[in-house]
Amino acid sequence: MAQSKRALAKRAKSQKNSTRSRANSYQNFIGGRWVSSSSGEWIENRNPADTRDLVGRFPQSTEADVEKAVAAAKEAFDGWRRTPAPKRAEILFRVGEILIRDKEKYTRDMTREMGKVLKEAGGDVQEAIDCTYYAAGEGRRLHGFTTPAEMPNKFAACMRQPVGLCGLITPWNFPMAIPSWKLIPALVCGNTVVIKPAEDTPLSTYNLIKACEEAGIPPGVVNLVTGYGETVGAAISGHRDLRLISFTGSTETGRTVAYACAERNAICSLEMGGKNAIIVMDDADIDNAVEGSVWGAFGTSGQRCTASSRLIVHKKVYKQFASKLAERTKALRVGNGADPKVEVGPVINQDAVEKILSYVDIGQNEDGATLACGGNQLTKGDYGHGYYIEPSVFTDVTPDMRIAQEEIFGPVTSVIPTNSLEEAIEIANGVRYGLSAAIYTADVNRAFHAMEEIYTGIFYVNSATIGAEVHLPFGGTKATGNGHREAGTQVLDIFSEWKSVYVDYSGRLQRAQIDNAKAIG
Ligand code: UN1
Repeated sequence: MAQSKRALAKRAKSQKNSTRSRANSYQNFIGGRWVSSSSGEWIENRNPADTRDLVGRFPQSTEADVEKAVAAAKEAFDGWRRTPAPKRAEILFRVGEILIRDKEKYTRDMTREMGKVLKEAGGDVQEAIDCTYYAAGEGRRLHGFTTPAEMPNKFAACMRQPVGLCGLITPWNFPMAIPSWKLIPALVCGNTVVIKPAEDTPLSTYNLIKACEEAGIPPGVVNLVTGYGETVGAAISGHRDLRLISFTGSTETGRTVAYACAERNAICSLEMGGKNAIIVMDDADIDNAVEGSVWGAFGTSGQRCTASSRLIVHKKVYKQFASKLAERTKALRVGNGADPKVEVGPVINQDAVEKILSYVDIGQNEDGATLACGGNQLTKGDYGHGYYIEPSVFTDVTPDMRIAQEEIFGPVTSVIPTNSLEEAIEIANGVRYGLSAAIYTADVNRAFHAMEEIYTGIFYVNSATIGAEVHLPFGGTKATGNGHREAGTQVLDIFSEWKSVYVDYSGRLQRAQIDNAKAIG
């Protein structure tokens, strides 16, 4: 998923004269100070809707910068972990207030750097606000438990403790929401953090960290280092002092992160790809299913790990569904997300354009599916300055085709005919990922059956595969993750470790498993 803007940066250099805006230069945030990278080099952040628009220049950081950030996090750790959790939470609530106050500005910044339409960028910021309030609320909970001990006059309980220094590596598709999913729970649990945002969208994370600074988070508790994955990401993943790495991005990069963590037995939490299916049964409300499919497949230009990239449709309604879907898709307005009339924004960068178009080609020429609509890059007029791809629908897709198996991460979806619910479930499960799935049906028995049989982390009935809420766990099975769940209270199990506590107040030696055990034989 994470692709570099390097090709773009090269091209951008030759476009310098046509740069329309005066770009800001941003800095890293280390030990409570805004500082330049030791490389003195920059990464240009350009608007994918119009690459003449230079959003800003961000430090192209090095291993030495990561080293300083980790040292700052280390120094701040004892002070932060000893700050009572309700006090930590008070500061985090202030972060939430700042995010609310500046939501509109953050929304515009996000559309400008990432491309998603304003409504969706507002949703992304809102998700960060929701997550911040929800996780901050945990400051007065962070529940452990007590349980009876096996001996008299003995107390047994379990409590959470912070894991230590955390490295957070975040993607470009939800540039404020996903950093907040990781950052705020990490902080409420008492950890200190080094965060590296995707090189394509550092501004939204910068805005979040600025809010942390303004809210009064002590120096060193939160550190921001921008740069490329191969340098900064690798230095974070492999740093011996980082006890935990939390990563969201491609399955391939996630595996590299996991290897680096395994080397030192660091905790590793991975959130990766998806190939999410909507099943449309013959008793479904077809118009509602079409609306859901369009939203699920083309929202965020299909660049969500929860995107509805497979639509498994019962043969009895297949024709009707496919033609309505194509008609609705063709009518979508593609353009600059800053225009409120636009429904589908650009994709993130040139690498993404090439990858998506290669899958259009694979779908037509290797797989032999029917391209019902779309499939082209839009290059005429203003489109020529950005990365625009027509929303695309493939029909007559079979489950084994590459376009039905591999994550495309763009505005391309595949309609797969099916004969029965059992077969649809088998198709839904027949991919290497397991993030999200959905069913459209009026039959409650079918809905529950599918809910039980489909092996994913998220399931929807009569709604698309996207749109998870922050108070429920988020994550997936199989190649999507490694068993962790973000959001909900489950995220606390990533960012805290359990400590079991025994207090013997009998005043004598009581040996577990021995003194109070039933005699056998
Ligand atoms: C992602 O695509 O990486 O459920 C995250 C959703 C959003 C989050 C998506 N709330 O679609």
